[in-house]
Amino acid sequence: MNGGQERIKGEYLRHMQIIEHAESLAPLHACALVPTMGALHAGHASLIQRAVSDGRPVVVSLFVNPTQFAVGEDFSKYPRTLEADRELCQTAGAAAIFIPSVQAMYPRGVEAANAEAATLQLPLVATQPKLEDAQRPTHFCGVCQVVAKLFDMCQPAAAYFGEKDFQQLRVIQDMVRREGARWKELVVHACPTIRENDGLAMSSRNRYLQANQRTNAQGLSRALMFAQESARAGMDIVAAENEMRRVLTQHQLEVDYAVIRAPETLLPIEKFQPGSRALIAARLEGVRLIDNASCSGA
Ligand code: PAJ
Repeated sequence: MNGGQERIKGEYLRHMQIIEHAESLAPLHACALVPTMGALHAGHASLIQRAVSDGRPVVVSLFVNPTQFAVGEDFSKYPRTLEADRELCQTAGAAAIFIPSVQAMYPRGVEAANAEAATLQLPLVATQPKLEDAQRPTHFCGVCQVVAKLFDMCQPAAAYFGEKDFQQLRVIQDMVRREGARWKELVVHACPTIRENDGLAMSSRNRYLQANQRTNAQGLSRALMFAQESARAGMDIVAAENEMRRVLTQHQLEVDYAVIRAPETLLPIEKFQPGSRALIAARLEGVRLIDNASCSGA
């Protein structure tokens, strides 16, 4: 890039606001909010682009939320790539990025925030399905806590979440439904999962995968395709779930769960139904991957 181009790019970047304090969000109330933890990729970009195309000024929050990580999870080594994130948000058309500090989000400290999160009344879809809720028992307390805070601070008219984290999406939808009066007229939009060419769902955690693990990681999308074929063929749910596990194991993936569930409650079902959801969590030598897909019956 020559000096002139550098300058033009600099001017262009300046048009996106960088906000660190919640008070500065006031002029952006009724915006479209895209909550993220940074380390952005094309999946995040698709949420921002969708929000931009819906016409409201878009605020992207970048905050690695300590309260949704359990001890021993990857909070401290979660990738932090602020410069690249800033460019991606700018290019995707965001009006502002919101990058609060941990201190600003949790003024009484993380320990107190964890204790507060544990007292939250979560929607049933955050506690009953025994999916992420069973594997990461404190996770949705932290997610609901931080997303509620972000909604309080931004007062958005619309918020965008990815189907990639399907249980999270359902939890947020139900939290907003239940607390309707708190975030007036807030509409939660679900956005489709963006994948790599080989079918692997994009994730900030994919960068932890070694080249040889990438091939095995394709087991998740293959198992989901298998579930979709099983649904079309009218196969029994238990048999389909067994086959999903077989495909995952063949790819050296250690299965946390591989199930087909009701689309709203995420509870077990006996037969495929419209919108049935296949959901998988599996580990490749310590890297935990999740994915899901709709698989309606024939
Ligand atoms: P993060 O993992 O950064 O994801 C931010 C948003 O991007 C989520 O709504 C997620 O579902 C979506 N997303 C991630 N990968 C995607 C993909 N491949 N295709 C489409 N959308 C994708 O989810 C969180 O952060 C946090 O839990 C958060 C909601 C921000 C609360 O801290």
